[in-house]
Amino acid sequence: MHYFQEKDGELWAEDLKVKDLAEKHGTPLYIYSASTLLRHYQAYDSAFKDIPHLTCFSAKCNSNLSVLELFKNQGAGVDIVSGGELYKALKAGIDPSKIVFSGVGKQEFELEQALDADILMFNVESRQELHQLNHVAENKGKTARISLRINPDVDPQTHPYISTGLQKNKFGINMDQAIDIYKEAMQMKGLEPIGIDCHIGSQLTKVSPILDALERLKQLYQDLKEIGINISHLDIGGGLGITYEEEDPPHPSELGKALTDSLQGYPLTLILEPGRVIAGNAGIMVTKSLFVKQTELKNFVVVDAAMNDLIRPSLYGAYHRIAEVVPQGRDERKLDIVGPICETGDFLAQDRKMPGIEPGEYLAVFSSGAYSLAMASQYNSRPRPPEVLVDGSTDRVIRRRETYHDLAGPEENI
Ligand code: LLP
Repeated sequence: MHYFQEKDGELWAEDLKVKDLAEKHGTPLYIYSASTLLRHYQAYDSAFKDIPHLTCFSAKCNSNLSVLELFKNQGAGVDIVSGGELYKALKAGIDPSKIVFSGVGKQEFELEQALDADILMFNVESRQELHQLNHVAENKGKTARISLRINPDVDPQTHPYISTGLQKNKFGINMDQAIDIYKEAMQMKGLEPIGIDCHIGSQLTKVSPILDALERLKQLYQDLKEIGINISHLDIGGGLGITYEEEDPPHPSELGKALTDSLQGYPLTLILEPGRVIAGNAGIMVTKSLFVKQTELKNFVVVDAAMNDLIRPSLYGAYHRIAEVVPQGRDERKLDIVGPICETGDFLAQDRKMPGIEPGEYLAVFSSGAYSLAMASQYNSRPRPPEVLVDGSTDRVIRRRETYHDLAGPEENI
């Protein structure tokens, strides 16, 4: 459930008309609904209320400071994958003891920053990283709490670019090497193994692959216990999918119940790293149609947003629902919604059956709260769009529109 609904013949963001917001802030424009973000966070977090747990919002999907702050006020932690995300999480006031750090290519300076901040734990993805982290920690006279990210080799049944838990993927440590690497970690002065971690993929529409992975982690937990290595944290990652089109992913409560049942009798704190399921449907991107161009084969609607603003359709062939902000009720036809960028791959939708659009009209691109502005670039020297947070009948710019100076600034006077 999200608070972008049609009422009185037009689209609203909570208690504000999307058309008014588009006119006030210009387009392309990202709009987030605070009530939706909170509702999704609470639905997810409360699904695990019956076991000790920590929900760490995955900053990679939306790292806006004000969005992170919203979750901080709910007591959330954050899952980070870079020094930049650590910087933003700390700036948003996230408690470092609620930060977990994943990623296959962490660098020494990032490890140092995270050690200085005293984060909860590092999710180590290789033996090489284990040695590197130990070295950095020892040099600082500190101890890094770690978990090993296990690659459980289960098929998450999602898009190949976003499945991570298969043996052929670059992520994590193979199950059959895990025990040896834990033993090695136990000998290292700079490390304290406290957890087992995995993240099998994103946009998952079934609970069963996560449960399969959990079974393997539980087995590892037992095996470690038998040799005297006691683990206190189990991080199951994120990955729960959302409805973009007709997907029917499980409700967080279903995941919560399944994991809670499966972990009965295990004295573990469960760490969760949800991103998309919380932020995805809490945002829209608004764009204005510039021209309508008909060829013998196609009806192109050229809009002012492009693949630099929202790359998911171009990169993954992802579907985002697109609707008129003020529906005009024209006959349906097949449209290609395309941007101004000089690439054929620059589209938001292809052969989409929808009512005809005229120049000057606004379109809402739904499910744009996760992996959207976060993946935007300045390609074609296009300043990135602003982000506006709506809360009831108030709107607040939480990231300003970039300027031409933002484009050229880092290249000037050097
Ligand atoms: N934890 C780790 C270690 C991850 O790699 C990810 C996502 C998450 C948590 C959060 O997953 P979520 O709950 O959002 O599914 N750009 C792609 C998605 C990439 C996901 C990367 N990792 C997209 O636009 O679909």
